[in-house]
Parts: sequence; structure tokens; C-alpha cells
Amino acid sequence: MSYPYQIKSLEAYQQAYKQSIESPENFWADVASHFHWRRKWDKTLEWNFTEPKVEWFKNAKLNITENCLDRHLKNLANRPAIIWEPNDPEEHHRVLTYKDLHYKVCQFANVLKNNGVKKGDRVCIYMGMIPELAIAVLACARIGAIHSVIFGGFSAQSIADRLQDAQAEYIVTCDGAYRGQKDIPLKNVIDDALIGCRFVKRVIVCTRTRTPVSMLKGRDVWWEDEVKKVETLGMFDCPAEEMDAEDPLFILYTSGSTGKPKGVVHACGGYMVYTNYTFVNVFQYQPGDIHFCTADIGWITGHSYIVYGPLSAGATTLMFEGVPTYPDAGRLWDIVDKFRVNILYTAPTAIRSLMGFGLGPLQGKKLTSLKTLGTVGEPINEEAWHWFDEHVGKGKCPIVDTWWQTETGGILISNMAGITPSKPSWATLPLPGVQPILVDDRGEEITEAVDGEFKGNLCIKAPWPAIIRTTYGDHERCKKNYFSTYPELYFTGDGALKDEQGNYRITGRVDDVLNVSGHRIGTAEVENAINMHAGVVESAVVGYPHDIKGQGIYAFVIYNGGHGDDNLQRQNILQTVTRIIGPIAKPDKIQFVSGLPKTRSGKIMRRILRKIAENEMENIGDTSTLLDPGVVEEIKNGKL
Ligand code: PRX
Repeated sequence: MSYPYQIKSLEAYQQAYKQSIESPENFWADVASHFHWRRKWDKTLEWNFTEPKVEWFKNAKLNITENCLDRHLKNLANRPAIIWEPNDPEEHHRVLTYKDLHYKVCQFANVLKNNGVKKGDRVCIYMGMIPELAIAVLACARIGAIHSVIFGGFSAQSIADRLQDAQAEYIVTCDGAYRGQKDIPLKNVIDDALIGCRFVKRVIVCTRTRTPVSMLKGRDVWWEDEVKKVETLGMFDCPAEEMDAEDPLFILYTSGSTGKPKGVVHACGGYMVYTNYTFVNVFQYQPGDIHFCTADIGWITGHSYIVYGPLSAGATTLMFEGVPTYPDAGRLWDIVDKFRVNILYTAPTAIRSLMGFGLGPLQGKKLTSLKTLGTVGEPINEEAWHWFDEHVGKGKCPIVDTWWQTETGGILISNMAGITPSKPSWATLPLPGVQPILVDDRGEEITEAVDGEFKGNLCIKAPWPAIIRTTYGDHERCKKNYFSTYPELYFTGDGALKDEQGNYRITGRVDDVLNVSGHRIGTAEVENAINMHAGVVESAVVGYPHDIKGQGIYAFVIYNGGHGDDNLQRQNILQTVTRIIGPIAKPDKIQFVSGLPKTRSGKIMRRILRKIAENEMENIGDTSTLLDPGVVEEIKNGKL
């Protein structure tokens, strides 16, 4: 497989960028011409950011799995598509070639069909990081069903909310999942979720941990039995469903600043072209390279850079079931050496946590196969960047700092490994086709630099192929969230700096969204969960700088429940948050207070709470407009 659109020099980047802005349609039509389409498009792009409406490759027909699987069978049938490393290093790893993966995807696609799943149906996938997860995702895409993967760390209640929102009638899960020392009983969690979701018709359960599970007659079936059934029926191949370029490929839920998570919808054609293009260019993938992205497929990073980007490029993608610290903090380095990994793509939070173990776990590890390193999910601090560069990359591997979002589908701002320069803690330049703009709070472009830097809210002026199409079932929400803050612009929710060379540094969210260990969590969501606890009167949640997680969650809680000491009450509240959202949303600190700083109209002044949580007591600012300024002193005195 060759990539004629792979950029090979700084000049070529500059030229591609210029061309992509002057003539986006020609630029992307040229890239798209290297894919397999059942029918070519009538028009490359039609768009407006008012409705918003974005259509790429209008009326083109395709199936993304033909691009990820079938088209590689001629020349790459025996190349490893997925290498899977289990949680337990003593267990044998698995390798699935393109031929194997094609076979298994067709097989499971037939299982889905045999269980009544049709084009357009929503299928919820709640599994651990085993090859069957990728197989289930691709099998949905094969038959045109819309997959919605839910990360294994979410609670039954979160799953139920998502199932309701997507009206998903089918679920694929496992008996359990291994993650480090933990054994997560996935099917039991699904059972709890389904108590309130009677519309679910079928749950297909894949065996992994042999955790005891209850199988409900008429609803629950085993993956392995269903596979045998289709084989007995002689259903081996599964022709790919013909999809419109704009048909939804998947829904992925993500947190916003208000209310419940929203279902971000991505479309088949544009998402395919863009994830492939960015994969090949940002990481400078070369045929035969082994690409290891440590994310979970439950997040967008896993969708785009474990599954669709690499497989559409005929690459070898490594899937790891476990965590970087199990059985010890040298696990990632062992995996790199074991499979001679060439590209390692991970999160700053993982790097910071591994730094905490010192250099011991790196001793005796070769890491000579590495060519490119990458980070994603949150700003990387310079210390972590240099540690990664020096001790993992041995000073010879470019680090790509990739900025993007669930809504953007693929990387928007990043250096390209070895092609465009890196700058520690800067995501650097926009990729071809991406037109960032910094605006002030009124939406005016920032045109004046202070000390050589422009500072503002990060927006994008025009669509790239993998931009969000809608929020499932509620287009107004999509419009309101992303396209209304600043007219005619896509608003990212991030703040950024730009230097005079045009490099961007993402400084973090400017809305009420937290980024904890690279996971996006809405403060409103956490507050709603805390407020569900009996005895809690009201709460306010803010982020604060955390050495390893990037941001920690600080909750101020008014409590009048009586009974037990503060620590027990804290534990009870944590338990409630775990039940309602999942362990990833547990506050790091809970401070009990008698009141919250509110304006006379009753609005909580989060700015003040943020300053207190950040220990910036001197910079709290004006408190005279508060209903009860005295409450601020009390909160300051009780700071944890
Ligand atoms: O704040 C930015 C941060 O993560 C947010 C998007 O989160 P999510 O949709 O979960 O997707 C994460 C993986 C793509 C962004 O709004 N973020 C992501 N990458 C970076 C980043 N912040 C700084 N630098 C990055 N490289």
C-alpha cells in the first residue's frame, strides 16, 4: 500500500496547506480518489455553519470496511492487522492478519444480521480491549448498523442514559474485562442498566473472564454459540452494505458543559478519508510499521487511531488490554520491545504517572524500534515532554502533540513527525484543510499580540471531512453547543495561544468541562450525581491543577444529612458518583461548606471557587456583588 498523499517535507506541507485552503474541494477530492468507492461523489462539499449542515462527497457510496479490509486482501492478506497483547503478560498474545480479520468481521456481521440487526439500527458495544471489540465495531460498519461504544469504566446508569438516548435495541458485551489487577463484571453492569431499558431486544455476550453471569432467556445469547450457528447455516461471507457518504457511521457520547452527555455523530465518507489522511501524515506511517496507540476504543482516540485510521491504511495496529502499570511500570516498554513497536501514541497523564516511578522501570529496555512518539488528550507540560523525548525516544524520535476532540473525528492541529518542527508543549501547526482562528469573547478575531503571542478562544472557520454532523436525536443541541457561540464558526471550547510563526498552544477548556487524566467530564454532570445523594443540599464542582491527572475534581458540598463522620459522608458521596456516572468522575476532594458564593440572582460564582481550589486565595477578585460575601472566608478557611 502506498500513500501518494503522504507529505514528505516542510515545503510539501506548506504547499499542501496553501492548496487545501485555496481549493478545499479539489484538495480533498484528490485525497479521496485513493479510496474504494462504489460510486463517486457528485459534489465534494456543501456546507453552512448556520444550520449547521455539512456534506462531504455528496451522493458517493461506499462501505468503510471494504476500505479497511477487502481492499487489502489482494496484497496484504497475510500482514498482521491487529496484534493483541493481553492484560496478563503470561497469557499468549494474538495476531490477526487482514485475512483473519476480514473473515471474523464477516462472521460476526452475519451474527448481527441473524439476530435481527439492520442498517441504521443502533448497537451499543460495552467490552474490554480484546480483538472482538474491534471485530464488533467493524461488523456493525459492515452491515450499516450504527455502533456506539461505551467505555468499560461507565456505570449502569450512564449506560442506561446512552441506550435511551440512542434507542439502541442491541448490545454486544463480555462476561467481564481484565484491567490491571481488576476484573470488571461487564455483563452484570449491563444487566443493571437494562432494568430500566425494556426495549433492548438482544444482548450478545463474548467470553473473556469466565465471571459468572446471568443469561436471560429470549434476550441474552453467547457470541461463541451465535458464531457456530451462522457457520452451520453456511453464512461465511458477508457482502458489505452500500452506504451513503453522509450516512452515520457511529455515535460516541461525550461530556459538555451542561446536562447529560451528547451523542456525537460521525459520517462514513468524510470520517474515513480524514482519519486515514491524518494517520498517514501525522505519524508518517510507513508500510510494515507497528503502531501502538494506548487509548481505549471506548474513546474517540481508539476509534480513529486504533481502528479506522490504521486499518484503512493497511497498517498493523497494536491493541493492549491492560494498563501501563501492570504488572509493573515497565509494561509499555516491554510491549514496545516484544513487538518492536515503531509508533507509540499515548496520553500525557500516562507519561506523568510513569515518570513518578523513576527510571528503574526503563532499565534493560531497548526501545530501539521506536521512530515516532505521540501524545493526545490534554496539554503536555514541558517536563513530561522532555522526559518522554529523552528517556523513551532517546532524543531521536519526533514527538507529535496532537490536538483534537471527539467532535473533530481526527487530529486538527499537530506537528507531523520529522516533517514540521516540534515545540515542547505546543501542538504547533494546523493540518492541511484546517483553518483555526482565535477570537475574543465577542467573537472578534484577535489581531494584536502581547509579548509575541495572540491569545483567544479557539474556533475553526470551515469544515474538514471528519467534522461532527449532528448530536444524535437533537440537531438544535449541536447548533447551540458548537455553532452559536460565535456565528459562522465552529467553537472548540478550548482557549489557545498562537505565536508569530503560526504555532498553536492549547491552554485548556474555557467552558465548564474538566479534563481529568485526558477524560472529558462535565462539572454539571458531576454536580447532578453528587446532588442525588441523600443529605446533599447543593454542590459546586470545579477543576484544579493535579500533578498526574492534569486536572483534579474539587467538590464543594452543602450537606445536612447528619449521621457519621465527614469521612464516611465523603465515601458515601463517592459511592453515589460511582453509581451514577462511574469511577472516572469521582471527586478528588470534597469540602463540606455551609453556603456557596452566589450572586444576588442566585448564580454560583464558580470563578471564585476555582481560585480557591487552585490555592490562588489572593486573586479571588471582587466579591462585593455576592449575596453573602462572608461565605468566601469560610470556604477559604476550610480549604482542603
Ligand atoms: O481540551 C482539549 C483536550 O481534550 C479535549 C477533547 O477531549 P475529547 O473529546 O475527549 O478528545 C480527546 C482525544 C482527542 C479538547 O477540547 N485536548 C485534546 N488533545 C489535546 C488537548 N489539549 C491540549 N493538547 C492536546 N494535544
